[in-house]
Amino acid sequence: MQDKREGSLLFKIEERRDLGNLVTFIPNKKVPIHNWFYFKEGFSRDFVLLMLDWLKIKNNEWILDPFCGSGTTLLTSKEFGFNAIGVDASPLAVFVTQVKIEDYDLEKIREHAREIFSKKFERYDTEGLSPLTKRAFSRYSLEDILFFKEEIKKINDPKIRNFFTLALMNSANKVSYAYKDGSVIKMREKPTIPLKKVFKRIVKRMIHDLKRANYKGSNIGVYLGDARRMDFLQDNYFDAVITSPPYLNKIEYTKVYSIEYELFFENFKFDSLRSYIGLNPKHVKDLFPELNLPDVAKAYLQDMNDALKEIYRVMKDDAKCSIVVAEGAFPDKIVPVDLLMAKLAERIGFKVERIVVVNERVVTRDRTFKIGKARESIVVMKK
Ligand SMILES: C[S@@+](CC[C@H](N)C(=O)[O-])C[C@H]1O[C@@H](n2cnc3c(N)ncnc32)[C@H](O)[C@@H]1O
Repeated sequence: MQDKREGSLLFKIEERRDLGNLVTFIPNKKVPIHNWFYFKEGFSRDFVLLMLDWLKIKNNEWILDPFCGSGTTLLTSKEFGFNAIGVDASPLAVFVTQVKIEDYDLEKIREHAREIFSKKFERYDTEGLSPLTKRAFSRYSLEDILFFKEEIKKINDPKIRNFFTLALMNSANKVSYAYKDGSVIKMREKPTIPLKKVFKRIVKRMIHDLKRANYKGSNIGVYLGDARRMDFLQDNYFDAVITSPPYLNKIEYTKVYSIEYELFFENFKFDSLRSYIGLNPKHVKDLFPELNLPDVAKAYLQDMNDALKEIYRVMKDDAKCSIVVAEGAFPDKIVPVDLLMAKLAERIGFKVERIVVVNERVVTRDRTFKIGKARESIVVMKK
């Protein structure tokens, strides 16, 4: 591949456009349990399987995903008998992952389902909710959501409470007028199915998925934390890292989930998301002064540098790491995140083995003026 951009001559760059779909969440939509929550920023189980093969990971080994999102790496590891730890700064992501990787007593879930669905409806006041949340549902749907939410709160076992909360969250999404368009929430009026019907169907499907799951008994865990400071993880512990950090100029995840946060994470403060990668463009150290990068790109690369140092610290010698990243598009330039991250990684001590370009998107300004092409790549490296 001919590429005259900064640093491109230093690394081996391959093209594998056939892998483009694997670094998206789309293939997961059909995979049981992986599809318990649609996480737009996620990659697929098939991608993790491919990386397990590329990185030659063996069954008793430990894998880390420091930006685990909805837990694709962890759940795949659980399915195929690898040990894995995930970290994410978002309480929603950690919650979703936890519910997906948990071991359940199915009979207990069935008992609670029977109880919840036999309760007589009670009306709860929707007045205190934000205008956005009120606009996102019909009054009936919203009242149903609040009713079931209160019923779920009465469940003592946190595992089972979380299971039903995720089911209700998905049911709420199904009947909602709101949808996520990039980083904004938009509304679309549509006829809605009664929430109770959707909720029952979703719980039934989730129970069915669990019944069919066949796990190999590995160790899986997830932490709420910051990939730049993983003090809770030991040095030289992991045999492999499979991950995908937030993409440069696509880091406003949290706002699109604000309805979920309001309804299902009552004590959550948006403030706690300051640990998000790239969200603090002030006081940054410019790691590439010669490139004259936009401030947000400088902040992003500095945060990624801190995360890479931590990843390096917790990896064993010779352990392998694969990271999916995308270039960042700005009005006057494309920032080659894959190459710059590879450079940072080498400064830290990693040996970059391959950069595999899997996608290339045309980037436009105001949806008309073409800025250039931004690629999505897998960076494979070794400690
Ligand atoms: C591209 S998504 C990962 C998706 C994941 N591969 C999946 O399949 O669901 C990036 C994740 O990084 C998380 N994140 C952002 N800043 C972080 C930080 N400082 N430490 C850990 N996680 C962070 C976001 O919450 C998001 O879930």
